[in-house]
Amino acid sequence: MKKQNKIIIAIDGQSSCGKSTLAKQLSKKLGYAYVDSGAMYRAVTLYFLQNKISLTDQNAIELALKNLSISFVNKEGVNTTLLNGEEVETEIRKMYVSEMVSPVAAISTVRRAMVWQQQQMGKAKGIVMDGRDIGTVVFPTAELKLFVTADIETRTNRRYLELKEKGMTLTKADVSKNLQDRDHIDSTRADSPLKQAEDAILIDNSNLTREEQLAMVVALAKERIENS
Ligand code: CDP
Repeated sequence: MKKQNKIIIAIDGQSSCGKSTLAKQLSKKLGYAYVDSGAMYRAVTLYFLQNKISLTDQNAIELALKNLSISFVNKEGVNTTLLNGEEVETEIRKMYVSEMVSPVAAISTVRRAMVWQQQQMGKAKGIVMDGRDIGTVVFPTAELKLFVTADIETRTNRRYLELKEKGMTLTKADVSKNLQDRDHIDSTRADSPLKQAEDAILIDNSNLTREEQLAMVVALAKERIENS
């Protein structure tokens, strides 16, 4: 039997469009690594907030980036983010981090450091990474690129339920505003704005179940693996 080549799968899209769910399911199905690049920007934001780093102080930002390290561990099947060895998975999903993450992610020095680390993680291929610039900047030659979208009501409802289940108290209006604010900053920033790569396949999952979406994407991935 021919040895199967490993490919890189890049999944980009707006806030809370279901990228991470899809990326996790797909990586499990293919036996690939999964990297949540958004968690990295969230962890940097948490570090900046904890250490009161001013977003206009370039020296402080560079020093902070040297002093922080982000890694992932699989804890009972759940992908968990570590910041300087400490588990921050719950903290980085909180609203005060969501409110600051897009301005932090717009800083080129921050992006350069994260992109470098993401590219190292993808060197051996066999990886699914989700984010905003994965197909355009991090892995421009990825064998499969997906751009996921869903309408704002669907995205708001999904994120609201997700945060409510985690015991966070906020309104749907808070969630909707945060998603739209981030989408605006992420897609209008000068460095690596969120946009669909020319060769990405667009998936609007507003009316797709998770199972339908997964089946569609697994078929695409198998075809790309076969032809790689
Ligand atoms: O989960 P959700 O889709 O709401 O966001 P996320 O993937 O956790 O990303 C959080 C933020 O990180 C985004 O709003 C972007 O500002 C930034 N980000 C980025 O700039 N580039 C990436 N590759 C991933 C995330």
